[in-house]
Amino acid sequence: MPAIFAKGITKKFGSFVAVDNVDLIVEEGEVFGFLGANGAGKTTTIKMLIGLIKPTSGSIIVSGIDVVQNPQKVKEIIGYMSQKFSLYDDLTVEENINFFGGIYGIGVTTLKEIKEDLLTKFNLLNERRKLTKDIPLGLKQRLALGIALMHRPKIVFLDEPTSGADPISRRNFWEIIRNLKRQGVTVFVTTHYLEEAEYCSKIALINSGRIIAYGTPTDLKKLAFNYPLFEVDFGGIESNIGVLNKVCDYGEFFIYGRKLHFLSKYLITTSELGIKMKSDFGIAPKTLRRIIPTLDDVFFQLVQKSNND
Ligand SMILES: Nc1ncnc2c1ncn2[C@@H]1O[C@H](COP(=O)(O)OP(=O)(O)OP(=O)(O)O)[C@@H](O)[C@H]1O
Ligand SMILES: [Mg+2]
Repeated sequence: MPAIFAKGITKKFGSFVAVDNVDLIVEEGEVFGFLGANGAGKTTTIKMLIGLIKPTSGSIIVSGIDVVQNPQKVKEIIGYMSQKFSLYDDLTVEENINFFGGIYGIGVTTLKEIKEDLLTKFNLLNERRKLTKDIPLGLKQRLALGIALMHRPKIVFLDEPTSGADPISRRNFWEIIRNLKRQGVTVFVTTHYLEEAEYCSKIALINSGRIIAYGTPTDLKKLAFNYPLFEVDFGGIESNIGVLNKVCDYGEFFIYGRKLHFLSKYLITTSELGIKMKSDFGIAPKTLRRIIPTLDDVFFQLVQKSNND
């Protein structure tokens, strides 16, 4: 039995379909990355999975519990860190822990133990008496995660937990997620940051409410790129990408940040491609090198493919 099993879940807001017939399987102990742009449907999906909103149709089983029938029951066994996490700014760090401990129904003695453990493990001992509004975002995120884990859930749902944090805080945060995995906790995490997706054992990519790709990071790279990808620099003619693409029938150029990428339609070596480009465009590339696609490239390709379908 997987930790999370969702079949055909759809959420409509009026006539607008925010989540469209989504299937998800998350195995126990997996770190599952749920990726998508702004408004793709990540938060709506998470809220359905944990019983905060009811799907328009479809079924959801989390840890053996039918979430649509028993939304209350599932809340007791999972941890949830919402996108706009609900810490109280005017309480101290310690008071926030006490408050949420009370909500979870944790007894006073156990709460004391859990609190010391949380403050130590999450490196928040120096902050315990500070007002939550006065601590940096990265620490707030860590506190929110600590609180989501207070009742020792076996499954946690984290909705963009590192959004806006600096790279070091993000790395620390992911270290905690890796530790959770070692303890056998199942983690369902949404993110915008593609490099974070590399830490996940499985990824689902959501675009306009639909899952457009699912698999390990390596699977997705294969799915998006059957043929070699190159980085190319013509030293200035890049702005004529439309013209280049008109002339070229053996691949496609696309702008990638400040660079130009070329995705071949055939298997071709770098030197063969250099010769071909020189004869076709009358100018040899200044640099041309084959690159290994990053998840960023994959994301770009898959979203583009899906939007063209
Ligand atoms: N209660 C609601 N009523 C109407 N539309 C909604 C509601 N909640 C979400 N939506 C719409 O559904 C779509 C998906 O929203 P959702 O919040 O799930 O996206 P997201 O992937 O979490 O985006 P972000 O990365 O910005 O958090 C958006 O177009 C949003 O405007
Ligand atoms: Mg969201």
